[in-house]
Amino acid sequence: MCGIFAYVGPKTTIRVALEGLRKVEYRGYDSAGIAYINEGKLATKKAVGKLANLEKVLGEDASPCIIAHTRWATHGKVTETNAHPILDQTDSIAVVHNGIVENFEQLRHELEREGVTFRTETDTEVIANLIAKFYTDDLLRAVQEVMPLLTGSSAFVAIHKNHPDECVAAKIGSPIVVGVGEGEMILASDPNAIIHHTRDVIYLSDGEVVRIKPHSVELFDASRTPISKKVEQLAHSAEEFSKGNFEHYTLKEIHDQPQAIRNAMLSRFLEEYGTAIFEDLQIKPANLLAVKRIVIVAAGTSFHAGLIAGYMLEEIARIPTDVEISSEFRYRNPIVADGTLVLAISQSGETADTIAAVRELKAKGATVIGICNVHGSTLSREADGTLFLRAGPEIGVCSTKAFTTQLTVLALFTLMMARLRHISKTEGQEFLTALKAIPGQVEQILSQSDAIQQLAETYAQFNDFFFIGRRYMFPTCLEGALKLKEIAYINANGYAAGEMKHGPIALLNERCPTLALCTDMLTYDKVVSNVMEARARHSPILGIAFEGDTRLKKIATHLIEIPKTRDELAPITTAVVCQLFAYFCAKKRGADIDQPKNLAKSVTVE
Ligand code: F6R
Repeated sequence: MCGIFAYVGPKTTIRVALEGLRKVEYRGYDSAGIAYINEGKLATKKAVGKLANLEKVLGEDASPCIIAHTRWATHGKVTETNAHPILDQTDSIAVVHNGIVENFEQLRHELEREGVTFRTETDTEVIANLIAKFYTDDLLRAVQEVMPLLTGSSAFVAIHKNHPDECVAAKIGSPIVVGVGEGEMILASDPNAIIHHTRDVIYLSDGEVVRIKPHSVELFDASRTPISKKVEQLAHSAEEFSKGNFEHYTLKEIHDQPQAIRNAMLSRFLEEYGTAIFEDLQIKPANLLAVKRIVIVAAGTSFHAGLIAGYMLEEIARIPTDVEISSEFRYRNPIVADGTLVLAISQSGETADTIAAVRELKAKGATVIGICNVHGSTLSREADGTLFLRAGPEIGVCSTKAFTTQLTVLALFTLMMARLRHISKTEGQEFLTALKAIPGQVEQILSQSDAIQQLAETYAQFNDFFFIGRRYMFPTCLEGALKLKEIAYINANGYAAGEMKHGPIALLNERCPTLALCTDMLTYDKVVSNVMEARARHSPILGIAFEGDTRLKKIATHLIEIPKTRDELAPITTAVVCQLFAYFCAKKRGADIDQPKNLAKSVTVE
């Protein structure tokens, strides 16, 4: 949940760290700091709040070796003292850390008994003081001594004042990437922060330690044996990490969707046979045919995509499917019967709960397919096969294009599973025709942005909303409500429309609007009745329906019409309307859209 950046090389200005931090700021942004070596001593600069505050206190010092951090607080309040880098008690070692040291209390007590004084509330301080304890002229060795003592999922980078040209990093569960440049080396939580220096990267695996100097990278496995690893080329271009002319990454990413959906489909279907193919999937068709049950694990927006996939897989492929929130699932003792296939959905591929659920399921013998956006992520490395979203980097904290590309990939996966079983070629071709029309339909919705903005500005004054819909629209309601909560800070509830009269309808009044998602045709009549019930309680109604709708038009206060598609695919187009609505509500309310408060992009803690 925190962002790490470290640099050794000729760009000695400490401001090089600021650029790196900007690229990982989405991972946490309650405070930030850097440490470097100045005249043989460690120097730190820290500030609470956004990077702009750190920028104000950065001087023009030079140092060949800098570590930097942007924080999402786990242990200890958001204060300058608790901001990283964290120093050991002798001010010799500085550490930046992402993740949690689960046994930090015990380690801290032990160190305190040995006379160590702690100055922060962080768990990171035990790492700094443990390294100091084991340090005898060799920082690498000290880090290797510390690694086995730490439990939980972490990644950290350490520097020592006596080694002005080296950084040592360790990975115990959380991501860290090495950028291999010409006479310069970089470490970061995300390749995004590296691409401006070099495209050559090495992904560390759990238990590995790396020492970087300007001209060398030394890697070691958990048993401290030197290893060599493949240098990989970053696939993305630097432009993909920029927000171009858009005011926010979130808006850019909403607009990226037509192309992202096209990319997600590219060469993954066979028109002639009305089916989908995934060349990147290393699982044989015979094994897919043997699947008797599917378990989907995911969190947040990815969970909502999973719920929609659950409906599709049961209805179209006729495979029993359970969809589970990974943070709940991991504490169960799941029964993994023969023929169970797991789909683990995660944009980042790093969500701690989803990774833990995957490990539990794999330990029980299940085959796991990851549905993921990030190459080299933990999920993509641990799953038996991965279907990449090809959405391009998603930097806005609020997930948008990941959701619609997840749905695209899941729709294709459903089609493949259904064709392997029972649906006809013609039915498959009809499905594909509808799917191929989606990017154009999303473009059509984006062209209605101004109208959606006007409506959002009218509704942005309300503090409570209900999103109602049935069947495919129920998870879409959950997703629409989540967008409004997280970026506009508006209390919004997604509800199965049929559930309203079992309690929540009591909350409806003229100050509590209802967003009626009426793009599921099988349940359209029922939802229209539920909308009537809401209207009878004076709730302002903003309806979303297919073009040509006449019934909802008569009862809704306002109506947004979108192109007609199949029920299974309507979540994609309807979600885009909800994303724009939330974005413009947030803008009207002056919220910090790309970096909503209290959130971070990649949830690497439980
Ligand atoms: C919401 C959002 C989060 C993520 C969730 C899972 O807009 O971004 O709810 O969807 O944290 O993240 P991934 O998909 O990376 O596992």
